[in-house]
Amino acid sequence: MHTPGDIALFDRFARLYGALMPAANDRPLRAGLALAERDVERVLDVGGGTGRAARAVDAPVRVVVDPSAGMLAGARAAGLDCVRADGAALPIPAASVDAVVIVDALHHVADQTGLLDETRRVLRPGGVLVVREFDRATLPGRALVAAEHLVGFDSQFFTPEELAARVERAGLDAAVPDRGFGFTVVGIAR
Ligand SMILES: C[S@@+](CC[C@H](N)C(=O)[O-])C[C@H]1O[C@@H](n2cnc3c(N)ncnc32)[C@H](O)[C@@H]1O
Repeated sequence: MHTPGDIALFDRFARLYGALMPAANDRPLRAGLALAERDVERVLDVGGGTGRAARAVDAPVRVVVDPSAGMLAGARAAGLDCVRADGAALPIPAASVDAVVIVDALHHVADQTGLLDETRRVLRPGGVLVVREFDRATLPGRALVAAEHLVGFDSQFFTPEELAARVERAGLDAAVPDRGFGFTVVGIAR
């Protein structure tokens, strides 16, 4: 698989990432998933890396999708089901999952529109997208943008409003349940 900039960096530092990163904050994820208008049984953790978000989610089926083999090794070691794929080309049938979570990953994805379109395609009606991101307009957000570019990432960040508009354009009903340096945008499939 072709691994452009950010993915190659994650492959290189996957072990360090797995060792250093704390557990994902489960509260905003659970609050976002609670907005689904159907039971949440099948969850995709896209850009899921070592599976931090999947581990924080309570659902019978959790699948981590990521193009980085190094990051997925950490998720596999934790016993999670994994699919190695670009989030903008999900090898997942249409209308087959109840929720998609994307945590600290959308800003690394080269084709963000493609990923949001794919999310709408795979969600069942009433299913929910939960995205956790960092607000580029806050002071720590500006520092993060600078730091990630310094390290060599091609990261493209949003404000909550910008991301909600992108989610709407993908055909989901968007809302912003929490704001701050870290914020959440949800999108409900109709
Ligand atoms: C900062 S890590 C976050 C991983 C995990 N979601 C977490 O919260 O720990 C960003 C992840 O995005 C993944 N990524 C980069 N480009 C991607 C793409 N096109 N499709 C899906 N995932 C991608 C990287 O491989 C990496 O695992």
